[in-house]
Amino acid sequence: MPGAPGAQAGNAQAGGVGRARTAILISGRGSNMAALLAAAANPAYPAEVVLVLANKASAAGLAHAAAAGIATAVVESRAFKGDRAGFEAAMQAELERHDVALIALAGFMRVLTEAFVTRWQGRLVNIHPSLLPSFPGLETHERALAAGVRLHGCTVHLVSPGVDEGPILAQAAVPVLAGDDADSLAARVLAQEHRLYPAALAWLAAGRVRLQDGRAVVQDAEGPVAALANPLP
Ligand code: GAR
Repeated sequence: MPGAPGAQAGNAQAGGVGRARTAILISGRGSNMAALLAAAANPAYPAEVVLVLANKASAAGLAHAAAAGIATAVVESRAFKGDRAGFEAAMQAELERHDVALIALAGFMRVLTEAFVTRWQGRLVNIHPSLLPSFPGLETHERALAAGVRLHGCTVHLVSPGVDEGPILAQAAVPVLAGDDADSLAARVLAQEHRLYPAALAWLAAGRVRLQDGRAVVQDAEGPVAALANPLP
């Protein structure tokens, strides 16, 4: 139960043996997926990527995953217009076919139902291009610029029902510089996304994440979390 004192997130490594079988869900470019695949190419990494699943056949990341020898699947969300439960049932079937224990959303641009999120609670993680809880939703870089914030960044969080909500695992901040536009700011944030996500997924896959009062606590957080939380020189 989320928020229960001391509740363990994950349950990724059945019986504590082997690497956590992980699916990455994408909708497009897949640069975060590529960062996760690169990390997981190391056999010592605690998550093994066993499936890349896209909700569009046109998702560019699929080709990269296939070239890396990873199983891919497409469940076309368009084919399930108005039937989110049917869409998610088809995804669930793919996840079960590949015996998936953990899901990493990486630019997956569909809102998941409460039923799906609850089913995967503690084993479903997302990366979002803002310092949550600021700027959930879309066009985060444009909105950060419009708000005049001096720091922006990205967040990896466990997924709860509610858009871009859930216990925060890790954040990285970047400065907003004079003269930034949404593209330059997005590129600065994306570089941090590619560092942050592999680190945070590793913590979850290794069973180092615990939920306490609705917040995520990472065991031995001082070293790597502190370093990632402040990448500024
Ligand atoms: C990333 O910036 C990711 O944080 C964002 O979409 C981009 C996907 O890029 N995700 C969201 O906005 C989810 N709310 P990628 O396909 O190259 O990883």
